[in-house]
Amino acid sequence: MSFDTVLTRRLGIKIPIVQGGMQWVGYAELASAVSNAGGLGLVLTSLPRVERMLMSNQLTALTQSSPEALRQEIRRCRSMTAAPFGVNVTIMPAINAPDYKSYVSVILDEGIRIIETAGDNPGAVIQSLKAAGCIIIHKCTTIRHANSAIKLGVDFLSIDGFECAGHVGESDITNFILLSKARQSLEVPFIASGGFADGQGLAAALSLGAEGINMGTRFMCTIEAPIHLNVKQAIVDGNETDTTLVLRRWKNTMRLYGNGVAKKAAVIEKNSASGLFDEVAPYVNGQRGREVFQNGDINHGVWTAGQVMGLIHDIPSCEVLCKRIEREALETLSRLRNLVTASKL
Ligand SMILES: Cc1cc2nc3c(=O)[nH]c(=O)nc-3n(C[C@H](O)[C@H](O)[C@H](O)COP(=O)(O)O)c2cc1C
Repeated sequence: MSFDTVLTRRLGIKIPIVQGGMQWVGYAELASAVSNAGGLGLVLTSLPRVERMLMSNQLTALTQSSPEALRQEIRRCRSMTAAPFGVNVTIMPAINAPDYKSYVSVILDEGIRIIETAGDNPGAVIQSLKAAGCIIIHKCTTIRHANSAIKLGVDFLSIDGFECAGHVGESDITNFILLSKARQSLEVPFIASGGFADGQGLAAALSLGAEGINMGTRFMCTIEAPIHLNVKQAIVDGNETDTTLVLRRWKNTMRLYGNGVAKKAAVIEKNSASGLFDEVAPYVNGQRGREVFQNGDINHGVWTAGQVMGLIHDIPSCEVLCKRIEREALETLSRLRNLVTASKL
């Protein structure tokens, strides 16, 4: 038995699992491993998202990346998998906005036709990708934003509950409500994102009306994720209570792994009389977060992880993980079927 959902059919994948775009993690090694395992891997455009957001919305020279770098990453991914994979384009406000047009050109030139978009004002990017026949999965944390994206013509919504890693939005609605609200009100198929790690979760998401799931933190904790083993071990050791929210004051709320630096940033944010972002900026420096992934000192800077940490207990390959989630989901659905009887007599 295998899954057959709108997501698997449209994307040409075997298992309804998407690996969400991840800054400093979503490189070709991970994306290709997820795609080879039957899900959809996503290469992140090397847009300096976390850096930009965390550094007062200024692009830094350090993280300026080029469309050419994206081209090379796409080619690297293609050399590692013959299965479909996509590209994440995260669009955030910036004083010096990256040259999105060139990124879009590279994506199209390289034959990528599945794109995960996220962030603010994605209209122009979505419209040019749609005009070229791409399938767009737009990630958002509210039904209002989902409806705006539908007007832009997106093919799928990725509904990201408050449990999720990274940008959680400002309305704090968890997936139990958000997914049913999506089922009740959206006219476009959606996938469930935030808080998923196993097949029971996939079965639940399908029951609530989703066509599949999107996972970030769970995929960080796989053999192929190109980050230091200490980070993976911290996720295994971590609990659902071990995340910290920062930047709410600036309406840019992020869920971070709750290390000392993140907690310190949260305290400064809460107590600052001036309310100046500059007070918190040194603590939420994105470059230090990148170094955590490279060097494995999990307290060196802030980095992102979701509440689903509490459900992650191992570091499997993407193949083992995806197959296990598929099996668990199929077993769960069959167990539920057995809970139904024709008659009590
Ligand atoms: C380390 C990390 C970096 C992330 N960076 C991005 C990003 O640059 N763009 C984006 O759209 N989502 C980003 N996300 C969010 C994921 O794509 C996904 O939506 C989220 O992790 C889902 O929640 P989960 O972690 O509970 O599975 C990131 C998540 C993690 C864990």
